[in-house]
Amino acid sequence: MNAAAIEQRRREIVARFGPWTAHNIRLADEVYTMAPGIAGDEVKLRRILQSVADLAAQPLAGLRVLDLACLEGLYAVEFARHGARVVGVEGRAVNLAKASFAKEVLELGNLELRQDDVRNLSRERYGSFDVVLCLGILYHLDAPDLFAFLERTAEVCQRFAVIDTHVSLVAEETRVHRGLEYRGQSYVEHAPHATAEEKASRLWASLDNSTSFWLTRASLYNALLHSGFTSVLECQLPPEPAKPEDRVTLVAMKGRRHELTSAPLADALPLEVPEDPKGSV
Ligand SMILES: C[S@@+](CC[C@H](N)C(=O)[O-])C[C@H]1O[C@@H](n2cnc3c(N)ncnc32)[C@H](O)[C@@H]1O
Repeated sequence: MNAAAIEQRRREIVARFGPWTAHNIRLADEVYTMAPGIAGDEVKLRRILQSVADLAAQPLAGLRVLDLACLEGLYAVEFARHGARVVGVEGRAVNLAKASFAKEVLELGNLELRQDDVRNLSRERYGSFDVVLCLGILYHLDAPDLFAFLERTAEVCQRFAVIDTHVSLVAEETRVHRGLEYRGQSYVEHAPHATAEEKASRLWASLDNSTSFWLTRASLYNALLHSGFTSVLECQLPPEPAKPEDRVTLVAMKGRRHELTSAPLADALPLEVPEDPKGSV
């Protein structure tokens, strides 16, 4: 397809499904899904690509990558363009139609796109992946689903998961999962009487749950620990200057626990991170 034909198809997609909302993908020299220039999530993409490449420490083309709640496909497309075998999962057909258009134009046979609820994630259904991207999805899930989701993420993850999420700055509510307490706050996703159509039309929101639960940093670390991750790192570079203070990019490593040889008593110390005693983080 030449640039003029791609632009024509892009306009048809916009007429049918509405404009792209965040994922500005270069499709041809001067043809972008949103606009030529920085118009969407490019700065976050730079952070995610670089940190995954650095931590993987191998050619991206050798990786199997899962992009959960892939929206319009920017991250999935980027990793596929680098040669990775990628599966993108997205709950909304409108978002997936835009991702599918980019896949088709860029002829990405190594990118599989599936419409599904990320709460259906399991190794049985999806297999396993070197890298799992959980970008902008955890904070759209409610308890207890968010805990099951982190457990399933760990289950399908062989090396590391990147979790870009809001955290709660207050520890005002408690949720219990498998007998353990987690702190955070409830967040409204949809008005209580929102119709299915209204929920479907809010393209970045939860699929159906009216509220979600945002974990504090400490509770998020502990939930990752209890889900089977062995260490958690925070990404600060490449920078995202506009990132709000309640949003983090974490990398949860799925390693093997090592026993200490020089200080074995430390192995008996708790691994959980304590909540801030003042109730905030
Ligand atoms: C804030 S956007 C983030 C999208 C993308 N991962 C990113 O970082 O740019 C949230 C996305 O999650 C999708 N979503 C929300 N709940 C979902 C669920 N339970 N299953 C699948 N997709 C979901 C929405 O349709 C939307 O595409």
